[in-house]
Amino acid sequence: MNIDLLKLKTALSDDIAVQFVLKLRLINYRFLPKNNFKIVSKHFKNNLKTLKQGLISPLKFNNALTNIIQENGRLYKEPWFYGFEYEYRNQKLVDIELQDISKYIIGKKILDFGCGSGEISNVLSQQNKKVTLIDITDHRTDPNKKLNFIKSYDSSIIPLDDKSIDTSLVFSVLHHNNSTIIKKLILELKRITKKRIIIKEDIYNIDMIQNKEKLKNDVFLQEFCTLSLKSQLNVIILSDFISNLIIQNNTQIDFPFNFFDDISWRKLFSEFDLQLKLVYLDGMRRDESDYYGSCHIYYIIDVL
Ligand SMILES: C[S@@+](CC[C@H](N)C(=O)[O-])C[C@H]1O[C@@H](n2cnc3c(N)ncnc32)[C@H](O)[C@@H]1O
Repeated sequence: MNIDLLKLKTALSDDIAVQFVLKLRLINYRFLPKNNFKIVSKHFKNNLKTLKQGLISPLKFNNALTNIIQENGRLYKEPWFYGFEYEYRNQKLVDIELQDISKYIIGKKILDFGCGSGEISNVLSQQNKKVTLIDITDHRTDPNKKLNFIKSYDSSIIPLDDKSIDTSLVFSVLHHNNSTIIKKLILELKRITKKRIIIKEDIYNIDMIQNKEKLKNDVFLQEFCTLSLKSQLNVIILSDFISNLIIQNNTQIDFPFNFFDDISWRKLFSEFDLQLKLVYLDGMRRDESDYYGSCHIYYIIDVL
């Protein structure tokens, strides 16, 4: 696991971002039994405090990191916490994602690049799609082990033939890679995809986006937009760290925190002659009562 410590330290030093992320990350646990909510709340706050206290020296910071990874492992093994997270990530989240984007998926041959647990592919395969899952690490949960999985050994290469896929899904993957690899991956996606690429990312600086329907009913997104751009970036950095490391205890993933703002993503796509068909800002509100831990956007791209 490689972490861009400078970016993480900068984010941890931004009190506005830390407070915003804590509020956003804790809201969905409010329906847990009171005692369990208290445990999660204390855990998140203590983890961030311990890391912040470690900022004074590299050795202290590394020790703090090692300790919190062990502690998070313990919380993740608690059946009530694991059950809560499993239900959200493998059931609710996938339903919401597919509600949002299934109308943009074209064709039968689907690539789930950086598939993680593989849950979205599981649902798509039940809808008769021919899914291919690729990841550098096999994080698949049991029921998804039957799906067609290819382990990737080079993070900048997609081991598939030219134009062998109709729609490629790339959900929350690119920011875990450095900029050179991101560019190579976009070229690879263009090479192997016949029709469409759908990229989901955490986003900041959303001024350019024309359709901001989501802003109306999304109080967190409204507040997020009032933060400075630096704090917005720090929010998504901290949120990514909390989600992958503190909540899911995923130590097999890199954290270069390579988040771009909306303008930079658009520039990158046009650099590679990719036609942006639609930008769907999903924001922070995921349903009536709950929120994502970050600000989400989907770039729906046509490959010509
Ligand atoms: C945050 S998880 C997202 C998983 C899944 N796409 C989802 O939305 O739930 C990121 C996944 O991308 C994978 N990944 C990151 N960079 C990759 C690369 N260059 N090639 C293949 N997989 C990659 C990681 O191993 C991890 O499983």
